Amino acid sequence: MRVTVFGATGLLGKALVREWTNDDVSGLGSKDADIRDPKQISDVLVKTRPDSIVLAAAYTDVDGCEGNPEQAFDVNCRGALNVAQAARQFASRLLFLSTDYVFEGAKNCPYETNDPRAPINVYGRSKAEAEVQISQVLPECCILRTSWLFGKDGKCFPETILKLAASQPAIDVVDDQRGSPTYTTDLARTIIQLCRSNAKGIVHATNRGDCSRFEFAREIVSDTRLNTLVRPTTSEQFVRPARRPKYSVLSSKSLQKQAIEMPHWQDALRRYLLQRNSVS
Ligand SMILES: NC(=O)c1ccc[n+]([C@@H]2O[C@H](COP(=O)([O-])OP(=O)(O)OC[C@H]3O[C@@H](n4cnc5c(N)ncnc54)[C@H](OP(=O)(O)O)[C@@H]3O)[C@@H](O)[C@H]2O)c1
Repeated sequence: MRVTVFGATGLLGKALVREWTNDDVSGLGSKDADIRDPKQISDVLVKTRPDSIVLAAAYTDVDGCEGNPEQAFDVNCRGALNVAQAARQFASRLLFLSTDYVFEGAKNCPYETNDPRAPINVYGRSKAEAEVQISQVLPECCILRTSWLFGKDGKCFPETILKLAASQPAIDVVDDQRGSPTYTTDLARTIIQLCRSNAKGIVHATNRGDCSRFEFAREIVSDTRLNTLVRPTTSEQFVRPARRPKYSVLSSKSLQKQAIEMPHWQDALRRYLLQRNSVS
């Protein structure tokens, strides 16, 4: 199979290219092709002629998106639509990476794939709109929603917590946002399986289990045997430019239908910490 990955220089994209063996994979960053420009997309696809495209390219700075809605929609929605149109033109399958932030966060049980989208920030709105428009162009595509990514290839929550914990006796972390941390290595393996089985429709893929940001931070600090005190706080105390959903756990039913089970986030965190220590 020939595969082209847009967003291959990012946190997930790097893991994806590393994990994806036994197929012909071309990984592209924004310097290879800016997805806002349809010509740059078709110029690379003429060369790579992919059977499958994975679209992991996005403007992912959630607070940045809030201040730059134009850029958020240009990249995350219009750019994604450009890739979908090119996929149709080149008769390639498409797997589009989306997010738990398409949901409002008012539920207290896991979000199903057919729950209504109701994003509460610009980033979420740009991805939700992209989902709708891509599905119109390519009804057979796979929309893969994931959440709270962490991995060794870029900025992520555990990295931030470890930096803070190394320099401060106590840190305050919000206890009123609940989700499923997801290790890029595990998600990459799932994406490869979904592409190989030609999965279609909306799929929710995260590591198993869920926690609050505070519980996640406490586990990170305890696994690394740091003495830093982790204290719970609230989103009202810790104000950010973009609102986050209070609860964005994604149901694993759609993944079970594909006969895939991802490891628990605590197991994933331990493997990430080992991998991080072995490279530093
Ligand atoms: N991170 C999370 O917690 C999270 C959660 C849920 C869903 N997701 C989704 O998962 C996907 C991967 O996220 P990530 O965290 O790996 O992202 P990331 O680390 O921020 O990487 C973003 C990637 O997109 C590329 N990119 C940005 N603007 C582009 C443009 N105009 N044209 C072409 N490429 C462009 C970047 O290329 P350069 O670096 O070369 O500029 C980079 O490869 C995204 O679709 C994101 O929405 C992420």
